[in-house]
Amino acid sequence: TTMAKTFKHIILGGGVSAGYAAREFAKQGLKPGELAIISKEAVAPYERPALSKAYLFPESPARLPGFHVCVGSGGERLLPEWYQEKGIELILSTEIVKADIAAKSLISAGGETFSYENLIIATGSTVIRLTDFGVEGADAKNIFYLREVDDADKLYEAIKAKKNGKAVVVGGGYIGLELSAVLRLNNIDVTMVYPEPWCMPRLFTSGIAAFYEGYYANKGVNIIKGTVAVGFTANSDGEVKEVKLKDGRVLEADIVVVGVGGRPQISLFKGQVEEDKGGIKTDSFFKTNVSNVYAVGDVATFPLKLYGELRRVEHVDHARKSAEQAVKAIKAAEDGKAVEEYDYLPYFYSRSFDLSWQFYGDNVGDTVLFGDNNPESPKPKFGTYWIKDGKVVGAFLESGTPEENKAIAKVARVQPPVQDVDQLAKEGLSFASKI
Ligand code: FDA
Ligand code: NAD
Repeated sequence: TTMAKTFKHIILGGGVSAGYAAREFAKQGLKPGELAIISKEAVAPYERPALSKAYLFPESPARLPGFHVCVGSGGERLLPEWYQEKGIELILSTEIVKADIAAKSLISAGGETFSYENLIIATGSTVIRLTDFGVEGADAKNIFYLREVDDADKLYEAIKAKKNGKAVVVGGGYIGLELSAVLRLNNIDVTMVYPEPWCMPRLFTSGIAAFYEGYYANKGVNIIKGTVAVGFTANSDGEVKEVKLKDGRVLEADIVVVGVGGRPQISLFKGQVEEDKGGIKTDSFFKTNVSNVYAVGDVATFPLKLYGELRRVEHVDHARKSAEQAVKAIKAAEDGKAVEEYDYLPYFYSRSFDLSWQFYGDNVGDTVLFGDNNPESPKPKFGTYWIKDGKVVGAFLESGTPEENKAIAKVARVQPPVQDVDQLAKEGLSFASKI
């Protein structure tokens, strides 16, 4: 056997969290050779949200190195040279296939062994595939999933090859909505299919969804709700040709994009670290039940202090902040110091066409819709408050200005009491602006 490569800190995964963790390590002080990032991707950490948006634009699409971290939060762009200058080893195109927590080592598909004192698990999510539940013909060519830059490259090629073609988008969540929009921008004929009565049901109310469904319809997106894809047929080249729906309909398709959810990648650690709610359980410092092992980003199930419960969050803002928190905690512990508990305010956003929404807080309780949510309006602007136990706990806003978005974030953090729900609906955004 060959000698293990040894590092003081290893970050497993080279996505959003890894990039922000590396920057925090550099900020806190790092000796050359102390830190390695191991990633199965071939590129340095980048802002993953670009892949479903500007990466697929028909004109001047975003390309690396343009969106390496940490540009997404308005920071410095960390090019591969940056890691070199800091003495951080970027070990790319390297998939770890075995983790031995007791031995403090990781083994790659190529048979290399890496040893560490501290491990930060930042393996993110993987897509759920239709082949996972045996959908007939789901392995045909031109059925795409989107998680990594390689996936986006393949989809981009197909969009160019199938000019003015037809696409079926399976799933009505984040990927479904963002990809349908960008496919339309590429002049592809788009039909969305999802099982629920309205899009993005894990966040949107029916009132919010009605706006986006109307807006998308006006942009030429066909929407089929209440059914799922149960099979695909292919042409003689093995390329997808038709999508069979459970309700009996058959749709023609040159391209299929599937976005039916993600799953945290934690299988390497099964039985070695404590799990909860589908993720790796951590404390407020993203430390697992094993003292030298941390978990951040999509894989972490952490105490969400504001709501007094454990949560897992699959969004970029948390990936960034959890990574910084873990590194601060590791560095403080080295100096015998402590850092404050993570006190996260959930923040999700999306952009498509000329639209842009933000959401802060918790989407539980009763809801109040305010503003102009007519999809035909020249400048629609609307929002929703969620009210629980007489307090506003969540707020959503479409087309907000930076100040207005700040105001709804503050509402979700402060949780002001509401006496009169009708009054709140009338006040709308001005309620938030007063807090
Ligand atoms: P992330 O997925 O970024 O990185 C994980 C890394 O680990 C990858 O590089 C992977 O290859 C690597 N890896 C995994 N297993 C490995 C192994 N065994 N060996 C080696 N390497 C391994 N959020 C949001 O708030 N707004 C948005 O607009 C978007 N948009 C968006 C678009 C698309 C297309 C996706 C897929 C996701 C989003 N998100 C988002 C979600 C957001 O990108 C996501 O929550 C973060 O990327 C999570 O960061 P992590 O670092 O946890 O995982
Ligand atoms: P999602 O959970 O947002 O949506 C999944 C959707 O799949 C459901 O809403 C449902 O409509 C649909 N669905 C479930 N089973 C189905 C079936 N059998 N047939 C058809 N439809 C079915 O997941 P996603 O959109 O795939 O996104 C994957 C990951 O990427 C998530 O972690 C998400 O947070 C992340 N992401 C986030 C953003 C953002 O925050 N703006 C953008 C893109 C991706």
